[in-house]
Amino acid sequence: MKKERNSFSGTIGFVLAAAGSAVGLGNIWRFPYLAAKDGGGLFLVVYLVLALTFGFTLLSTEIAIGRKTKQSPLTAYSKLHKRWKPLGVIACIVPVIIMPYYCAIGGWVLKYFLAYLTGHGTEAAQDGYFTGFITSNIEPVIMMLLFLAAVAFIIFRGVNKGIESSSQVIMPVLLLLVVIIAVFSLTISHTGDDGVTRTGLEGFKVYVVPNFDGLTIKGFFSVLVDAMGQLFFSLSVAMGIMVAYGSYVKDDANLTRSINQIEIFDTAVAFLAGVMIIPAVFTFMGMEGMQASGPSLMFVSLPKVFAAMGKIGNIVGCLFFAMVLFAAVTSAMSVMEAVVSSFMDEFHISRTKAACIEGVIALVAGIVVCLGYNLLYFEVKLPNGAVAQILDIMDYISNNLFMPVVAIGTCILIGWVVKPKVVIDEVEKSGCKFGRKWLYVPMIKVIAPILLIILLLKSAGIISWI
Ligand code: PHE
Repeated sequence: MKKERNSFSGTIGFVLAAAGSAVGLGNIWRFPYLAAKDGGGLFLVVYLVLALTFGFTLLSTEIAIGRKTKQSPLTAYSKLHKRWKPLGVIACIVPVIIMPYYCAIGGWVLKYFLAYLTGHGTEAAQDGYFTGFITSNIEPVIMMLLFLAAVAFIIFRGVNKGIESSSQVIMPVLLLLVVIIAVFSLTISHTGDDGVTRTGLEGFKVYVVPNFDGLTIKGFFSVLVDAMGQLFFSLSVAMGIMVAYGSYVKDDANLTRSINQIEIFDTAVAFLAGVMIIPAVFTFMGMEGMQASGPSLMFVSLPKVFAAMGKIGNIVGCLFFAMVLFAAVTSAMSVMEAVVSSFMDEFHISRTKAACIEGVIALVAGIVVCLGYNLLYFEVKLPNGAVAQILDIMDYISNNLFMPVVAIGTCILIGWVVKPKVVIDEVEKSGCKFGRKWLYVPMIKVIAPILLIILLLKSAGIISWI
């Protein structure tokens, strides 16, 4: 007898789970940095326009593919067209690659959260703390393991008892924490060693007021490509996740509304992350503080900002890292689910078995990633010029190469092979209107693939002038 597929019990559960996947480290450590670098409000406007067009197209497509086929990424594409199995294979390899290094970073976040929780925030702000931690041989592995265990536990419990119920608790708390920290950030002021007093509100202005100074066409193009790359990563598309989550959505659910809500949630948190981070960094470090992004912003610059806040800094740091931990857990569980559901559908095995297999793969590869800063240390130069260790190499291959390829393949499959009507009909199946239909067809057939090819060429280092 065929077992019935699990499904989210309601649309709220689905929206929160998908938003949980979308809201992740990218929203927190990259969006604010790009906004500060790319002319504040100018970046925000470009990002918003892209979210409503390009992001909406990719997100709708993947969720609809999942719901229509009721299959995981590995098997969904071949169900649409039998010659397109290879696309499913790459879409499934992406989360397999991402999972180990996402858990390694999740472990770093856990370490910082524990440091602040136990009142050791000032130590975490000292020079060399972060490097000392990641280059030690045992601690990062233990932290990674704890993070992975928490995520695997949720996935073992399944779609309803695991993913849906944890998202319903975590996401509202996460939003609350973001709002609290953002409001706090707007109220601070500080007089630096240079005698200049800066306030959070001034920092907020730098963030939201568009800066057109010295803007050239080439410069605008680079803002556009930055915003596109960020959006693409932020919505968790092209990594099989939204196909997997889409396959658990009931046929009578209103997809248009859910897709809008996921986009609003993700964009709002990204925007609020900027309200949290930019005014605080600006107040305590000036705009130079915003030159860092990624791990160095989160694990080096921000602890210094918290330390400069004095006593309250430890509490703010603790709330901040709790929030980041929540964001990372909900993203990691979506990555793991994409792989687990693929193994279940392809090999007809139980959830427990599939989760054990993926858990072991992530564990072994995760240890290798952690040791990449220690026993297995080496340096290579990537085509985009960055000096990389194992983690960066995996990140580069998945985000910069495989993900654009999956997205381009999806656009060609839907736009030209099976035709956009398949997605439109799926969205409209439950009687809801596909709002931006006029936009969807040209977008999926022509505009999105062109934008994605530009993104791929840029991230592969083939075009370097943007
Ligand atoms: N979308 C998440 C973000 O913006 C990142 C993510 C990465 C989610 C990998 C799932 C998997 O940070």
